[in-house]
Amino acid sequence: MGSLHVISHPLIEAKLTRMRDKDTPSPEFRTLLKEISLLMGYEVTRDFPTTLARVETPICEGDFPVLKDDFFTIVPILRAGLGMVDGLLELMPFAHVGHIGLVRDEETHMPEEYYCKMPEGYEHSIIMVVDPMLATGGSAVDAVGSLKRRGCDNIRLVNLVATPEGVAAVREAHPEVDIYVAAVDEGLNEDAYIVPGLGDAGDRIFGTR
Ligand code: PRP
Ligand code: URA
Repeated sequence: MGSLHVISHPLIEAKLTRMRDKDTPSPEFRTLLKEISLLMGYEVTRDFPTTLARVETPICEGDFPVLKDDFFTIVPILRAGLGMVDGLLELMPFAHVGHIGLVRDEETHMPEEYYCKMPEGYEHSIIMVVDPMLATGGSAVDAVGSLKRRGCDNIRLVNLVATPEGVAAVREAHPEVDIYVAAVDEGLNEDAYIVPGLGDAGDRIFGTR
């Protein structure tokens, strides 16, 4: 059974507050998202397996921890998930990146997949699906489902802001998936936007509205 990890840290909270402010411009919004993603990455990777490797320090030889495997895959849900990739890559430059394109139908709010491109051999790597917003949960449920159908069996979900409804939807559809978030907000408005949230993450990252 996966867990919900709410990563609370004063730096993350203060940066997220700046992102919520409707007057924070796109360049600052992007920088803050990158910084928070890097900070969240510290917790998201906490259980990554390690093994010992022999290393010669300037003083003597010894056995020290190294990552057991360095094949990790970051999978942003397009578009807004792209805003979380650079921060995580800064932490894990060796990680691979796959992309899933999903867009919510503006009327039904249902996600539709329009793109998927994954690195070779990713199926058995640890996969981090990233998207700043977990609103109804429809996009995350579909993205994780799509990866599972392609053979992935070790998936975790990383979101900036979630709703209780979104978390419940993912837990019901994919109970084994660990969910990492910086905040769980009150809920959804009639347009399926997160309240209080931070608005349309994709538009704010890319300045499209
Ligand atoms: C946003 C967001 C998530 C999705 C969350 O994407 O980035 O992918 O909505 O909503 P849900 O939990 O109700 O599915 P959007 O469809 O606006 O596309 P975009 O990233 O291209 O702007
Ligand atoms: N997608 C967003 O970008 N923001 C929301 O509040 C909900 C879905």
